[in-house]
Amino acid sequence: MKRIIVLASGSGSNAENIANYFKDKTNAKVSYILTNNAKAKVLDRAKRLEISSKIFTKQEFAEGKNVLDFLKKEADLIILAGFLLKISPEIVAAFPNKIINIHPALLPKYGGKGMYGMNVHNAVVENKEQETGITIHYVNENYDEGAIIFQESVAVSPEDTPEIVASKVHELEYAFFPKVIEEIVNNL
Ligand code: GAR
Repeated sequence: MKRIIVLASGSGSNAENIANYFKDKTNAKVSYILTNNAKAKVLDRAKRLEISSKIFTKQEFAEGKNVLDFLKKEADLIILAGFLLKISPEIVAAFPNKIINIHPALLPKYGGKGMYGMNVHNAVVENKEQETGITIHYVNENYDEGAIIFQESVAVSPEDTPEIVASKVHELEYAFFPKVIEEIVNNL
């Protein structure tokens, strides 16, 4: 049984979707949800789903040591699902090709520092893009620059608000992210 650890900073709807997907699987399960935000809604979700959770401070994530010790003991695969802090170089080095992020746009467009959540969808609408989508990629030392594993696009209509774009992107995330994770898990 492979242990998937999900990191999330906010709502955690992807974390919940992934946890549910693997709930009855025999090859992998979400064993922990980690957050940097003691007030994150994802902690309520973890409780409801009866999944262990753990809070590390922003400083602990930056320093790496405590988080790394924990992950080395507990994780086979690390999933960033709406996690907004940078992963320390020590952690990246310790888990080559075992840290996966989802980004709510078609990278390399709309990536990099400050480009997360609604900021991305606001920019997509402002720039009158005709499509957007999701990118699932390996994590390296730079924001949003690791090798791309999977992308899927969706049309943006001229009348779409950023909220509508966000919900279209979330639909793609819910449909594809767990399946992509499963494929990776099966090859571990
Ligand atoms: C998701 O859309 C995810 O792609 C995005 O944050 C949202 C989290 O939603 N991640 C980033 O922007 C990372 N740069 P959720 O908390 O409901 O899963």
